[in-house]
Amino acid sequence: MPTDKGSRTAILLDCDTGVDDTMAIMLACLSPEIELVGVGTIWGNVDRDLATQNTLNILAMCGRSDVPVAAGATTPLNGADVDYGYFVHGKDGQGNRGMKGKYGKSIEMSAAEFIVDSCRKRPGEIELVPVGPLTNIALALQLEPTLPKLVRGITIMGGAALAPGNVSPVAEANIWHDAEAASEVFLAQWPITMVGLDVTMRTLLTEEHFDRMRNGGGISKYMAQIAEFYTTFNQERSFGRRLSTMHDAVAVGLAANLVRAKVAPVVNVEVDTTDGPGRGQTICDLRGIYMNFPSQENAHCRVPLELEDGFPDFFTDLIVAAGEPAVNVE
Ligand code: BDR
Ligand code: CA
Repeated sequence: MPTDKGSRTAILLDCDTGVDDTMAIMLACLSPEIELVGVGTIWGNVDRDLATQNTLNILAMCGRSDVPVAAGATTPLNGADVDYGYFVHGKDGQGNRGMKGKYGKSIEMSAAEFIVDSCRKRPGEIELVPVGPLTNIALALQLEPTLPKLVRGITIMGGAALAPGNVSPVAEANIWHDAEAASEVFLAQWPITMVGLDVTMRTLLTEEHFDRMRNGGGISKYMAQIAEFYTTFNQERSFGRRLSTMHDAVAVGLAANLVRAKVAPVVNVEVDTTDGPGRGQTICDLRGIYMNFPSQENAHCRVPLELEDGFPDFFTDLIVAAGEPAVNVE
């Protein structure tokens, strides 16, 4: 297992820290294959300030208060009113069972400035992994139009290729929240991996996984505790039984090769920014599906459609082994 700094994947996360974002942050902190460069925060599941505090708290819990956190946008690019996902992630973004304490402090730079600054310092090395609305990434592109040449790539949790949406029949939440930003990000010429609902709705934690976490160390107990509310939402809205998605952790897993895609064509993707029923849809050109996806001119977006099994087990093993939190999580 590669653990030296040179062979680790350098990841800069951008989160709207709710329950599955917490899974992503924990995975990035605990996995020896990942160097967590920093975390930008964004509104989405919760407001931006709560996303920032939740991020700082999770990092503190994992003993990683050294990781810089930069607060980002509070509205989409077009300044429209925002709808938060408290009904999915709880009023505290932690299933109403989060930590009472407040740990750490964000840095002075905005998330967009931090993204640009970090990528300028380490050209070609950093994988951006936004797992919330794409506003901070679009703002970073506006600040530094050559950003696509400064990153290793960008792995986005968002969108749906063949799967249905989760906010509208066709739109996934992160894209829906700021379709204009998403459109700019997908148009930019960088290698994108779009980790959409096609794979994240099929990569699930079961009650057996959560039982193991409840019986594990304090960090995994905390994870199981905050996931109860979220699992109830998943049960009522999607699965009819107690299964939990782990959307954002899947994106981190793919970015760091902790899970691999079995089918992942590179295709053209366009985001619908109209005001009609298609708003927020990621329109993926999958017409090559019957011919093993022949290459498409200018295509730069890899769209995983099927993953290898085992990622929920891998995640559970890692988190159960994580031991006690570095701060009081009561
Ligand atoms: C995405 O939306 C948010 O609720 C989750 O954190 C995830 O990033 C799933 O559609
Ligand atoms: Ca998220």
